[in-house]
Amino acid sequence: MYEDVLKQKLSDPEFLLKKYWIVQHIEFKLQMIELELSAKHNRTMIQKVEHRIKNAESIARKLVKKGFKITFENADKMLNDIIGIRVVCLYRDDIYRIADLLKQQKDFTLIKEKDYITNPKKSGYQSLHLIFDIPLVYKEAEELQRVEIQLRTVAMDFWAGVDNQICYKKNPAKMKTAELALKNYSTEISKMDKQMLELRRNAEQ
Ligand code: GTP
Ligand code: MG
Repeated sequence: MYEDVLKQKLSDPEFLLKKYWIVQHIEFKLQMIELELSAKHNRTMIQKVEHRIKNAESIARKLVKKGFKITFENADKMLNDIIGIRVVCLYRDDIYRIADLLKQQKDFTLIKEKDYITNPKKSGYQSLHLIFDIPLVYKEAEELQRVEIQLRTVAMDFWAGVDNQICYKKNPAKMKTAELALKNYSTEISKMDKQMLELRRNAEQ
């Protein structure tokens, strides 16, 4: 019942337009960042940008998990990742270059930063997460929109994609062997990322 109301409100054209407006705004900023960094370092920085607006089922599931009632107001106020952007690049250090430029944007207010590269999650998951509030202005009104931007290397993205299909949010009892393997591969991927960075740095000299 709650879910039906939530679903209806989440498919409201104005609600969705505002979310996509912010997605586009961030994507244009990322194009500016790409221009600046590629000119400075003489190579492509951003390999891929993806976005998703969280759907009603997934919002409802997350609200329950966090102990909140399934309402539109809770969804809008309590969740950071209704708007999700993912930025993928080749090298670990570029993640922080892109992140720095995102943080420098006057209209982006950093709410939270989670560095799962320096401190990977128990699963082995690695990425840098930045949570921002971004104002959306229409006529006299200005409202803040919350977004989660995930930055990672291609290797981290590969790992997270496989983990997502096999383990993440699945039945933990069945997952022991796969979880263990993925945890090891996460270490391998971290090593590989460092080696690739080394390779690039040597080539730059
Ligand atoms: P979620 O309920 O998992 O969204 O957690 P959270 O909102 O408390 O924040 P957290 O920083 O743990 O995770 C945010 C997002 O990072 C998730 O929605 C996933 O996209 C990604 N993520 C976090 N942990 C993992 C993981 O172990 N594996 C994979 N594949 N993705 C993860
Ligand atoms: Mg999430």
